[in-house]
Amino acid sequence: MMAPQGLPPYRMAPLGMLCGLLFASCFIFCLSHQNPNKFALTNPEKSSMKESERKEAKAEEDLDPEILEVFHPTEEWQALRPGQAVPAGSHVRLNLQTGAREVKLQYEEDKFRNNLKGSKKGKRLDINTNTYTSQDLKSALAKFKEGEEMKNSKEDEARQAEVKRLFRPIEELKKAFDELNVVIETDMQIMVRLINKFNSSSSSLEEKIAALFDLEYYVHQMDNAQDLLSFGGLQVVINGLNSTEPMVKEYAAFVLGAAFSSNPKVQVEAIEGGALQKLLVILATEQPLTAKKKVLFALCSLLRHFPYAQQQFLKLGGLQVLRSLVQEKSTEVLAVRIITLLYDLVTEKMFAEEEADLTQDSSPAKLQQYRQVHLLPGLREQGWCEITAHLLALPEHAAREKVLQTLGALLATCRDRYRQDPQLNRMLGSLQDEYQALATLELQEGEDDGYFRELLASINSLLKELR
Ligand SMILES: *[C@@H]1O[C@H](CO)[C@@H](O)[C@H](O)[C@H]1NC(C)=O
Ligand SMILES: *[C@@H]1O[C@H](CO)[C@@H](O)[C@H](O)[C@H]1NC(C)=O
Repeated sequence: MMAPQGLPPYRMAPLGMLCGLLFASCFIFCLSHQNPNKFALTNPEKSSMKESERKEAKAEEDLDPEILEVFHPTEEWQALRPGQAVPAGSHVRLNLQTGAREVKLQYEEDKFRNNLKGSKKGKRLDINTNTYTSQDLKSALAKFKEGEEMKNSKEDEARQAEVKRLFRPIEELKKAFDELNVVIETDMQIMVRLINKFNSSSSSLEEKIAALFDLEYYVHQMDNAQDLLSFGGLQVVINGLNSTEPMVKEYAAFVLGAAFSSNPKVQVEAIEGGALQKLLVILATEQPLTAKKKVLFALCSLLRHFPYAQQQFLKLGGLQVLRSLVQEKSTEVLAVRIITLLYDLVTEKMFAEEEADLTQDSSPAKLQQYRQVHLLPGLREQGWCEITAHLLALPEHAAREKVLQTLGALLATCRDRYRQDPQLNRMLGSLQDEYQALATLELQEGEDDGYFRELLASINSLLKELR
């Protein structure tokens, strides 16, 4: 068990009440807010963060994140502008001459209307499938209403009316959706449904992974991540790390990484819920690399800006776990991410000290917490001075840049170790030559403060410090 006195002060606040208030105010806000986007349908359009993570996770998911405008296909081909949503059933082609995507109606107008009439008679649109996006539904709704007026009014007028309709108060919009028997769920309802799906023993592995994948989209929002706490959903995901299925571990970590990110309340609950141990166990045992990647990501977002978690991490032997990852052949590709994490933790603590200095605050609570994180001595004892130095052998410039930064941040702690390391001196010497040449080229091309020149400068200053 964790020592409760180590918890940050905000943990002491009556959390439940706060969450309740938060939720209530969010609810009221949602109801009074005019933006229909506040009410999400079940198909997540996309998250704004971690583009590469999501691509990695599901390459086929290539929906546009900024879908705001509904496109109105006609019988003619029309060019599609960026950001426009296309109603289901439209015909899309790529115009090879212009490079533009073009769209036209695939169904005749009444066929389209009949489809919707069918749903009006009580057949539910199955919003649990990926067939409909919220935009599809809004567009379908607009079309449906428009169809009744279309006969005698000009198309332009109908469009204007339709645009107005799209910006109607959410109450009205909800009523209209009710008429169509389309169910709109709040984010909270969606999360509860996804958690139930994931937690149910009758769900298949695919269903569980899909539920986690969808959930990840919602918990990027701080409020949503905190709501996930309120009904025990976070713990269900944390327990997912114990699954015997590597895919479940992987996607549970994917959700957690997003939920922890800059969200202190969630980070605190996660530590109490045993997330840190579970993440470290996965990193320390035989697991697929893809799972370890996402688990490392979750670990990073749990530790950042949370000194109490950093203390626990050191106590649980986290540095040894990371060292094995860097040193083992199969996982050494994670080295740069690990070095980045360590660099961030070292500088975070430094900034906390500097900030306290500047504000003349004699004992800020946060600084007290950071002072108990004995990171630098741990790094030195466990050979991170040498490990970091040898990572300079990595071939990519960006990786070397990170390593150089970290060497700089560890300089005060590692100076004597660096000096005794002949390999480091040789490596710095040869990198100096390499970047000298590249910086010269850069200068010839007219770049006064180029990238290579900066790298060269940090190599030079390291060499000077080690003389
Ligand atoms: C998850 O399932 C377990 C066992 O089936 C149940 O006890 C628990 O309440 C469920 N948790 C949630 C949040 O639904
Ligand atoms: C999850 O796994 C950890 C270690 O692998 C173990 O200590 C813990 O008891 C497990 N928890 C559950 C709920 O199975």
